[in-house]
Amino acid sequence: MAEHLRRWHNARRCPLDLPGRCHNQAARVTMAHMTTEVSRITVPRFMAFKQAGHKIAMLTAYDYGMASLVDAAGIEGILVGDSMSMVVQGHPTTLPVTLDEMIYHAEMVGRAVQRALVVVDMPFPCGHLGSYQAVEAAGRILKETRCQAVKLEGGSEQREVIRALVSAGIPVMAHCGLRPQSVHQLGGYKVQRDAERLMADALAAEEAGAFAVVLECIPAALAGQISRRLSIPTIGIGAGAECDGQVLVLHDLLGLTPGSVPRFVRRYADLGQAVLQAVGQFRDDVRHGRFPGPEHTFR
Ligand code: KIV
Repeated sequence: MAEHLRRWHNARRCPLDLPGRCHNQAARVTMAHMTTEVSRITVPRFMAFKQAGHKIAMLTAYDYGMASLVDAAGIEGILVGDSMSMVVQGHPTTLPVTLDEMIYHAEMVGRAVQRALVVVDMPFPCGHLGSYQAVEAAGRILKETRCQAVKLEGGSEQREVIRALVSAGIPVMAHCGLRPQSVHQLGGYKVQRDAERLMADALAAEEAGAFAVVLECIPAALAGQISRRLSIPTIGIGAGAECDGQVLVLHDLLGLTPGSVPRFVRRYADLGQAVLQAVGQFRDDVRHGRFPGPEHTFR
């Protein structure tokens, strides 16, 4: 078993011998000790992965349980994405999620993660109300959640905001290409092909002080060119294999998203099916008196 996974299992071993029901103080104390053993991925370490040729794996997470698992599996970055608006809250776009809701979820993730770098999305329209308000919103995110950085959609037009955040000591991951918060302006979730603009956006983000940039839904060859030109890591989603890292929405990867998923997603599990099966079995067992059994019953 990998070291991270062993730690995860040990942290959750329940001192009262109630497997799977371990929410008591003793377990938390065990976890608190563990945090000192695990070496945290900081922003400079995250940036250094590029020079080291170490490909960066990032996933989204939105709550304590999933964030603990994703972290234990040894991923480098966790994004509390505004995709939460769609996959957790059930909205059709990322626009409705609020700053307070992002902070509520980021706080759960921040409490769970011991190793990965945790980045939180600036929800719409927090990054577009001027530098002062952006610093105020991002400042709340860092103060209230234990997370380490924010992600901001936009490139050239967000130069000043990125500068203001960085000069306040707030690390910024930029997000260029398909920007889901601009879905109405872009006319849908489409591949972005304006090579000149995309290169300029990525360079502007780097020049303004961003420590990394997400490239979403752009042609692979262009993402490769941008990745070679930038000295900060590029994190691709639908941007091919030449990026310095990859990010996916956790629900897509685990098969928890109903219906079809974008072409750039690889499903590594079908947890949706597993949940349906488990819940159906429980329903049948209850109906037919097979649950609870003697082993679940107190005398
Ligand atoms: O909100 C999100 O999940 C994102 C992606 C880059 C995955 O921004």
